Amino acid sequence: MKSIKEEINLENKKILLRLDLNVPLLGDKITDTTRIDKILPTLNFLISQNAKIIIISHVGRPKGKVVNDLSLRPICKDLEMKLSQNIKLLSKDIKEIVSNDLFQNDDERIIMLENIRFYPEEEKNNQSFAKKLSTLGDIYVNDAFSCSHRAHASIHEITNFLPSFSGLQLDLEINALKKITSEIKKPITCIIGGSKVSTKINIIKNLIPRFDNIIIVGGMANNIIKYMGNNIGKSLQEENSDLIIKEIFSLSETENCKLIYPQDIVVGKDLNGKPQIKELNDISSDEMILDIGPKTINMISNIIDESNTILWNGPAGYFENPSFANGSIKIAKKIIENNKSNKIFSVAGGGDTVSLLNNLNAINDFNFISTAGGAFLEYLEGKELPGIKALN
Ligand code: 3PG
Repeated sequence: MKSIKEEINLENKKILLRLDLNVPLLGDKITDTTRIDKILPTLNFLISQNAKIIIISHVGRPKGKVVNDLSLRPICKDLEMKLSQNIKLLSKDIKEIVSNDLFQNDDERIIMLENIRFYPEEEKNNQSFAKKLSTLGDIYVNDAFSCSHRAHASIHEITNFLPSFSGLQLDLEINALKKITSEIKKPITCIIGGSKVSTKINIIKNLIPRFDNIIIVGGMANNIIKYMGNNIGKSLQEENSDLIIKEIFSLSETENCKLIYPQDIVVGKDLNGKPQIKELNDISSDEMILDIGPKTINMISNIIDESNTILWNGPAGYFENPSFANGSIKIAKKIIENNKSNKIFSVAGGGDTVSLLNNLNAINDFNFISTAGGAFLEYLEGKELPGIKALN
């Protein structure tokens, strides 16, 4: 893998720069800008080299269709402000862009293409789409470690058509994770939460042999609660997950990995509803699980006390509403407490987890913060990520 830092002549070269600007949006307001802030050094480096930059990114999951609420416009504006540079957001269909649409005068140095996931070809890793994309630049740079677990056209296939490099933030994340995973101290506890159940549930199986404890909270835990014979009402869940949960439990026994899941929960009638602590067998059909309860928090605190390393991806509940943020906040505070007294080594990753820690002003209280969520977990699985493999 060659880093863009090693490329000596970037003067006036057109750089197709894949970033992960998938930040949380509330209307057109960005609620956490960490992923934007972290790639500023890369952009400043390319600007200092007098390169011309074409930014490619996605936000959200528009599933191959134009969704106006998932435009990159607010992100483009934020970036413009932070770089004190104009950035042209090009909404024209990528398949129809011609070179005259790009860099129309000398002052135009940065262009951003509209959400790449508006095109169905992106997630299909479509070859001709990647080829067309490649004709817009001279060099391709992947600085989206957090997307590198996706074999998508702008991450994977595009590397077949252009000289391809890693970006500064990707280098930093890979080097840090390499070091962490090679020097890791047991007992290791991995906390997995969040709402991307389909992305993460299959990963757990591969993490079991590597860790001493796996704590499952957030959306994924709902499926376990249901598997245990409880009604989970309107809670977020993944269809047909019983078989994988059965495998997870049996593997945890043979591999001697302790699985921890909620013993009590906090429900609401909807995301803005009134919080109510409940036992697992007491959830009504019109309620949804939105946080972990006090018994579960206690149990998790004890496991954190017994651990030397904590890897955390995904909040324990719907933390965006303070009524359901208690579990995630208590987990964060416990990790921070043990980290400050040097009892543990702690790593957190993922957009929502980072946003939670930013809200708590605790980003510097962890040993390492990764911008990646799914990619972070797949890296921990020991897998070579498609985007990294392509650069290699
Ligand atoms: C992330 O937020 O983990 C990345 O942007 C990838 O998003 P995805 O899970 O929708 O592929």
